[in-house]
Amino acid sequence: MKDEIVHWGIIGAGSIAKKFATDLITIPNAKLYAIASRTLVKAKNFGETFQADVAYGDYKELVLDPNVDAVYIATPHSFHKEHTMLCLNHHIPVLCEKPFAMNLEEVEEMIQLARKKETLLMEAMWTIFLPHFRYALDLIDKQHFGALIKLEADFGFQPEYNERSRLFDKQLGGGSLLDIGIYPVFAALSSLGSPEHIEAKAEFFPTGVDSECDIQFHYKNALAKLKSTFKKETYTEAIFHCKDGIIKINGRFHEPSSISLIDHNGNKELKTFDNNTLGYSYEIEHFNQLIRQGKTESDIMTFEKSIQLISTLDKVRQCIGLEYK
Ligand SMILES: NC(=O)c1ccc[n+]([C@@H]2O[C@H](COP(=O)([O-])OP(=O)(O)OC[C@H]3O[C@@H](n4cnc5c(N)ncnc54)[C@H](OP(=O)(O)O)[C@@H]3O)[C@@H](O)[C@H]2O)c1
Repeated sequence: MKDEIVHWGIIGAGSIAKKFATDLITIPNAKLYAIASRTLVKAKNFGETFQADVAYGDYKELVLDPNVDAVYIATPHSFHKEHTMLCLNHHIPVLCEKPFAMNLEEVEEMIQLARKKETLLMEAMWTIFLPHFRYALDLIDKQHFGALIKLEADFGFQPEYNERSRLFDKQLGGGSLLDIGIYPVFAALSSLGSPEHIEAKAEFFPTGVDSECDIQFHYKNALAKLKSTFKKETYTEAIFHCKDGIIKINGRFHEPSSISLIDHNGNKELKTFDNNTLGYSYEIEHFNQLIRQGKTESDIMTFEKSIQLISTLDKVRQCIGLEYK
């Protein structure tokens, strides 16, 4: 495909799809070609706003369109596997929202099918592509302030309680852990790797999903204290305590942000980054490049990383007794 325009399709015209499309239309050599919603009117409205060529009132119609080069899946967690399989079975490259699926078993099935169909598949863990996050990980990797001893990371906001919203509905994979706790967990896995031991406790909404979750990852020489909550707004920072100083990703750490470096004498330096988009452009450009190069797996958000992430989330869910049927 080389430098030709990548024609994107989106499945699910919800709130993240709008943000993704906002960034997509700013990218050269890529365009929003098609949008699919369960409701045709909704698809048409979305299509008009973001100048899509085609609007479908059925997800299946989109995958039958031979002009679609890539699909972004923006449906609730519990549909990620089904919609990923639908696209892969039609040999369409898939960028699927986080969490990749509901559990390890589902993720493994998706990866297996992607390999069988020799079709590109990647989890849309956009944070790993953001310059500030990569910069922080690089400093940690280089031991800028010596060894990493402790990570404190949180993510909290207070959505209005609504049993039918995907955030609270168990059938749709609701709960704070899978929706936002995934980011502190990802920060820990990216900096310290898989923990030797996990402790976690949670509180629950009447719908049976976790309203908040407190997690501790224990490592041989380090500790990660992680939190997600739907009960209050939190700073949403990632604070990496190293032997000789602190690397702090300022709130909200999972999206385009800045970094504070604090040495052992208390001297502070603020590192800022040029962010001209909402931040989804980085994962989109990476994915476009993979398509042009004919790749079937990302070298950044690898299958191994997605497997590590979902299996860790499975273990945390086991600790807090949260099961999805
Ligand atoms: N990367 C990020 O920054 C980020 C941020 C927010 C969310 N996300 C992820 O993106 C996914 C979607 O989140 P969202 O906030 O965009 O959710 P949302 O606003 O509720 O949109 C989800 C869309 O999925 C479709 N859908 C299909 N079956 C559905 C069902 N049974 N119930 C409800 N919706 C259904 C709907 O689209 P149609 O009606 O058009 O078919 C709906 O608008 C989640 O997995 C979430 O984790 C990622």
